[in-house]
Amino acid sequence: MDQSKLINKTKEQLKIEPNLINYEATAKDFDYKVMEQEIEFVDGKLNAAYNAVDRHLKTDRKDKPALIWCGDDNQEKIFTFEQLSKFSNKIANALVKLGAQKGDRVFIFLPRIPELYASFLGIVKTGAIAATLFAAFGPEALSDRLADSGTKFVITTSQLKSRVEEIFDDLKDLQKVLVVSDSEDCELTDYEIDFNKLIADESEEFDTVMMDPKDSCFMLYTSGTTGKPKGVVHHHYAILHEHLTAKWVLDVHDSDVYWCTADPGWVTGIAYGILGIWSAGATSIVHEGRFSAKEWYGIIDKHKVSIWYTAPTAIRMLMKEGVDELKSFDFSSLRYLCSVGEPLNPEAIKWSLDNLGLPFHDNYWQTETGGIVIANYPNMPIKPGSMGKPFPGIHAAIVDEDFNELPPGEEGNLVMKPGWPSMMKEVWNNPEKFNEYFKKGWYITGDRVKVDEDGYFWFVGRADDVINTAGHRVGPFEVESALIEHPAVCEAGVIGKPDKLFGEIIKAFIVLNKGYTLNDELMVDIKKFIKKHLSGHAYPKEIEVRDSLPKTRSGKIVRRLLKAQELGEDTGDTSTLDKD
Ligand code: WT7
Repeated sequence: MDQSKLINKTKEQLKIEPNLINYEATAKDFDYKVMEQEIEFVDGKLNAAYNAVDRHLKTDRKDKPALIWCGDDNQEKIFTFEQLSKFSNKIANALVKLGAQKGDRVFIFLPRIPELYASFLGIVKTGAIAATLFAAFGPEALSDRLADSGTKFVITTSQLKSRVEEIFDDLKDLQKVLVVSDSEDCELTDYEIDFNKLIADESEEFDTVMMDPKDSCFMLYTSGTTGKPKGVVHHHYAILHEHLTAKWVLDVHDSDVYWCTADPGWVTGIAYGILGIWSAGATSIVHEGRFSAKEWYGIIDKHKVSIWYTAPTAIRMLMKEGVDELKSFDFSSLRYLCSVGEPLNPEAIKWSLDNLGLPFHDNYWQTETGGIVIANYPNMPIKPGSMGKPFPGIHAAIVDEDFNELPPGEEGNLVMKPGWPSMMKEVWNNPEKFNEYFKKGWYITGDRVKVDEDGYFWFVGRADDVINTAGHRVGPFEVESALIEHPAVCEAGVIGKPDKLFGEIIKAFIVLNKGYTLNDELMVDIKKFIKKHLSGHAYPKEIEVRDSLPKTRSGKIVRRLLKAQELGEDTGDTSTLDKD
């Protein structure tokens, strides 16, 4: 490593002494058991939502803003920790009256409005499992998740509820849909209830259900390389790791205004938009709208954001907008920048140094790890392009196919010793899938990584066909299944194609049914179809028609080959393929 490329941070940049003063010393003696003092247990039990919000009511944080909501049309709402606690208590009381019990699944299908955050906390307080859904999901993506999990309640809006209605017949366990509506007379079916009216007279007091550390707290679906999305379940004890990483990686101090741009439909928006971040006592910004450079810069300026946690694609989109956009805003409140979800290219770090005066700190984790596991820390020099070093308490290694540990410089599979507090508890209803993650005493991430002589980890790529587009994990099987639902499509193979802005874009290879030819109109129609049925982020930007797709003798489409052909790479061993 060329040491001249090391980025050291000055005291002036950090502004405050970091929470984690000495990484090496802390990592050496680290013990999660000792760190349990950071969160509150009652007779060996805990509740993650209580730890995130309610425990602060006994302190100076009671009247501190917890949530600053920036809605569309310049709307703004502020909730203190106490107000957020009361709001979530009302929801918890209503849910219990409806029959929510420990372990029941309650899904949130909401845009980033305050009700989303209060509902998440309210559900968790009852002992039920809070589950989130991205508001861009279409009926097929919803049905895969809601039916598999056997959800009992869904909380949604008057605008989104029709998507649940469309698939209602698939949802055998669904009892009620709670509808957040801004009009007095929203039309409701017999299983729908007006959310606002439901909670209006509920008490602001609620006896939070204390849980065993290993009891389920939240779940969310994520994609693998085969099959439909899997329900990754996390237990209440995860709050310990999420709290510690919020303090030591994101460096949250009481004086900070923190902004995480992630939606709680993804794990970052839960661990660092709700649980860990409030447990660490942050004032957190939520922006309801979509990406807009002007609005984003305006939020940092207006609310004096000091810590900003975002994703490489977002940074690249800002870079693309050019520097003129930046000039009319004041960024002097910023003191610490973090990024997650996909490789952070050195150019993005250079851009932030040049334009914001601060470098982005990359960190790495997954839905399954429940919290950050590899990171750059405030007091540690950055090597641009590296994800940093394992969090204290995480034992990570690079191994070959036989699980032999590899020396520095060699690329291999990234694995970790199981058992950190936020490691997933189970895959919903699917112990086989869960067990596939573990071998020879290791948890397998599915990522290819290298470590250098100084112990810094460098991301190389996925070990499987999982696609990462704009930081969103997309399973090719889900897209392929949706594509063949379209009347024109007979067969489909889907790959991630490298892209400068989005990291990867989705490219589909399809075989058309008889009587169809691919023209612009059909192309647009197929894309629209996927956006509507699956999700806005999962549609193929590129579609190519083939007469046939490469398959194994057992009939499985070989994406590896499609990708190699697309990239003009060596197609490797094709001897097991079906060649007709
Ligand atoms: C996959 C996990 C962690 C929350 C958001 C994504 C990729 C994640 C990085 C990074 C390179 C990264 C990996 C990982 N990934 N962080 N810093 N550098 N790649 O969670 O949807 O579960 O996706 O995202 O491939 O396995 P997720």
